[in-house]
Amino acid sequence: MREMTSMEPDLREVMIPSADIQAKVRELGEAVTRDYAGERPLLVGILRGGVVFLSDLMRAVDLPCEIDFMDISSYGAGTSSSGVVRILKDLEEDITGRHVLIVEDIVDTGLTLSYLNRALLARKPASLEICALLTKPSRRKVPIEVKYLGFEVPDEFVVGYGLDYAGAYRNLPDIGVLKPEVFGGAEE
Ligand code: XMP
Ligand code: MG
Repeated sequence: MREMTSMEPDLREVMIPSADIQAKVRELGEAVTRDYAGERPLLVGILRGGVVFLSDLMRAVDLPCEIDFMDISSYGAGTSSSGVVRILKDLEEDITGRHVLIVEDIVDTGLTLSYLNRALLARKPASLEICALLTKPSRRKVPIEVKYLGFEVPDEFVVGYGLDYAGAYRNLPDIGVLKPEVFGGAEE
């Protein structure tokens, strides 16, 4: 791929280079292909951060799979620790009896996925698993089982490969950490 240079000066560090991400995505795709052999899994991308990962992952899965999307958001800052999330866009598909694989960019506290897991299990899928590119284990508030995992990362705000800061950097092929001056010292 062509080198991306215009966003590079904003990074303090490239944490995971594009080539490592692509190798990991191939590995995860092979695992999914093996585990779902003979099935037609439904890959559920979580908007918007999971989109880049999903689009690469689905092409690494050598099975007739389908895709769908959900958009969710935390219910206001004050209640984020309750893990209650709002569904902004629900699935188009009925997942009853389907093999569903949630595809997410990063698991942080785990609250979002834990809520989503419960909400989707109530619809009686044949199976429900999680595939996440990144996890920040030190931030976890609730236990969450991620069957297909890319990389563990330290507790730093990362951008690229779908992950954004104020809407930008999603198209960066690497995953990196922004310089503090770009970040403006803004913590979540
Ligand atoms: P929880 O805490 O519920 O939330 O696991 C996961 C969501 O938080 C966002 N998140 C990040 N987004 N860089 C980002 O761009 C990060 O370092 C980061 N950490 C968490 C992300 O939207 C994820 O879906
Ligand atoms: Mg997200």
